[in-house]
Amino acid sequence: MPTHAAAKSPKAYRRHEFNLKGLAGISDAQIEEHLALYAGYVKQVNALNQELAEMLARGQASGKSPEFAELTRRLGFEYNGMILHEYYFGNLRAAADPKPPAGSGLTEALVGSFGSVEQWRTDFQAIGEMRGVGWVILFQDPVTDRLTNHWITLHQDGVPAGFKPLLVMDVWEHAFMRDYKATERDQYIEAFFRNIDWSVLETRLQEERAVRPAA
Ligand SMILES: [Fe+2]
Repeated sequence: MPTHAAAKSPKAYRRHEFNLKGLAGISDAQIEEHLALYAGYVKQVNALNQELAEMLARGQASGKSPEFAELTRRLGFEYNGMILHEYYFGNLRAAADPKPPAGSGLTEALVGSFGSVEQWRTDFQAIGEMRGVGWVILFQDPVTDRLTNHWITLHQDGVPAGFKPLLVMDVWEHAFMRDYKATERDQYIEAFFRNIDWSVLETRLQEERAVRPAA
């Protein structure tokens, strides 16, 4: 009988700290609650990885096992829940500029892909007002350098493989319902745009690899 290898403990992800007090139109209490939700995703990712590693070590990794299948399916949800929140909090700052600096690489890339920064913003905001819970993400295709806006359902459905996130906006209701009503998502989106750290987007654009705070 083959003996099963002992479970290797996967390296745990750590919760990243974000200092986001004093945002415009997004309260400190809202951010605090949202950061606590993010912490839950980090915890779940670590717990799931551990559980799956243990199942594998016990010889229980099987596509026929409902438990193995369900835990594996949840990985995509929990991982992207963690990762997208890190991008989201990472692209916010207090006392932000209303738009990227003229002549910056980001401005040029937005103009090249959308015609103007305003056109890009119109498209991004329109996607944010779509019904359903999820995210709006400005991605760069690293192969063509083209920038495109995408709707992501939940945390994981619709992410283009290998694309690099530049700007990530959470439009789940938990992102704004301390400050706004469910019907006031457009006001939250306006507030979001008053708090974008454009220098972070520029770094994400210029770096060859995807960059997020906890990496
Ligand atoms: Fe969120």
